[in-house]
Amino acid sequence: MAKMASASPKFFYNALGSRIFEAITALDEYYPTRTEAGIFQAAAGQIAGALADQGLGRPCLIDLGAGNCAKALSLMPVIKPRQYVPVDISADFLRDAAGQVQNGFPMLDIVAVGMDFSAGLVLPGEVQPDQRVYFYPGSSLGNFQPAQALEFLRRMADPAQGKARGLLLGIDLVKDPATLEAAYDDALGVTAAFNKNLLRNVNGLLAADFDVRQWRHVALFNAGQSRIEMHLEALSDLTVRWPGHARQFFKGERIHTESSYKYTTESMTVLLEKAGFRQIRHWTDPDQWFAVFWAAI
Ligand code: TRP
Repeated sequence: MAKMASASPKFFYNALGSRIFEAITALDEYYPTRTEAGIFQAAAGQIAGALADQGLGRPCLIDLGAGNCAKALSLMPVIKPRQYVPVDISADFLRDAAGQVQNGFPMLDIVAVGMDFSAGLVLPGEVQPDQRVYFYPGSSLGNFQPAQALEFLRRMADPAQGKARGLLLGIDLVKDPATLEAAYDDALGVTAAFNKNLLRNVNGLLAADFDVRQWRHVALFNAGQSRIEMHLEALSDLTVRWPGHARQFFKGERIHTESSYKYTTESMTVLLEKAGFRQIRHWTDPDQWFAVFWAAI
């Protein structure tokens, strides 16, 4: 951990992190969730048509990073899955959310899977072998570096590794930096809390002693890399300890905790093609702030 240049996005999502993220999705400044929901609504018929074209009448919907399952819920009437498989690293949070989905859809076959899928997706035997569709909304793919994103997509599209037939993907698009930066540095400080909660999660995982009060949240758009960067900046000279180690930070020194890459519809189409997907289609909102992609395997 000597350099600790950046951390995997999964470390944000402990039980508290999942709740804080849910609050982020309700913020005025955080446009992605509601913009994506608007696209799902407006394009519902066409999305259903794209699935029908592939013979995916009653699919198995595999929701990667399902969280509170709200995004999939809104699509249930459109996709009409025979089986719903929400997957999330935050297992307890997921169990509650999946229970609520079951209340709303008593007849739906739900297999909730609490796991870290970043190293590979291993699904239990109850998951139906055919008509599988991956659902990866919320611009989560943007939290990977492009090379990692390509690797992740390749694994999904590889028929030897999975049995899926397609991917429904939500991805945030490049736009003016002020709008982007506000979305990741809201006035209430909810995203700041989300970012700092990472330190608490690391404390729990590594027995480290980060003091969240000694750090400041910084969000900035790096246009060259086409990404929002989230940092935590030391407010004073300080030392962080964990078993067998001590790391000094100087006032103003930053930890790059997370990136959120912003794509264009063209760059994402190229990435999906490179990964092996075909018949790629997309829909955007009128401002072209966010895009939903359908890509067949
Ligand atoms: N996938 C979300 C995004 O990139 C996750 C996210 C939202 C996030 N706000 C954040 C991750 C703040 C880290 C810090 O928009």
